[in-house]
Amino acid sequence: MKDVIISPSILSADFKNLHEELNKISQSGAKWIHFDVMDGHFVDNISFGIPVLESISKAHGLINDVHLMISDPLHYALRFLNAGADYLTFHLEALKSKDDIFRLIDLIHSQHKKVGISIKPGTDVLILKPYLHMIDLVLIMSVEPGFGGQQFMDNALGKITFLKDYKQTNHLDYLIEVDGGINEKTGPLCTFFGADVLVSGSYIFKADDYKKQIDKLKS
Ligand code: DX5
Ligand code: ZN
Repeated sequence: MKDVIISPSILSADFKNLHEELNKISQSGAKWIHFDVMDGHFVDNISFGIPVLESISKAHGLINDVHLMISDPLHYALRFLNAGADYLTFHLEALKSKDDIFRLIDLIHSQHKKVGISIKPGTDVLILKPYLHMIDLVLIMSVEPGFGGQQFMDNALGKITFLKDYKQTNHLDYLIEVDGGINEKTGPLCTFFGADVLVSGSYIFKADDYKKQIDKLKS
């Protein structure tokens, strides 16, 4: 059984010591770093963007797992890719048409990067079906996007199950990532249901020993 991937969300990191935080994460055994971009329009919060990604994306050797919680991902995608995104995940709810979704998938793949699509807790997982054969990752939100430190929402488990079954039935290989309220209880539960990648912010960054927390998520 392959090890679940942990993607620590820097939204919960100490930004006055970001370089040190990234070093601690690199030494903790995490191979990914989750980068929550919020525009204050798609979600009711503003986080960070292209200059911050540019300054850190090559500084740590981790996979840059960029989560766009923005209203116009098609407009900004190329700049995030050039800034160092390895996985670029956008919200299905942020695009107005199927054509725009296909256009954005093509754009990301044209830059030889990985495509992720995310859906909010209230969005039906079946809406993803036209895209699942084309993408590299599905990000299931287990909290309303916008803030770290929220409680895990159980309805994510049904979506993980559907995506795992669909992947097996259709011989697809997208990664199933879960994001929001992930801790030593909800993390292993999501893995049991079929998650491949766990995003975790406050559970890791609010603790002293990052490696210990990450090991507990993997257990
Ligand atoms: C929420 C973000 C999540 C969040 C996770 O909109 O997408 O990545 O930072 O934080 P925790 O793990 O504290 O719920
Ligand atoms: Zn996120």
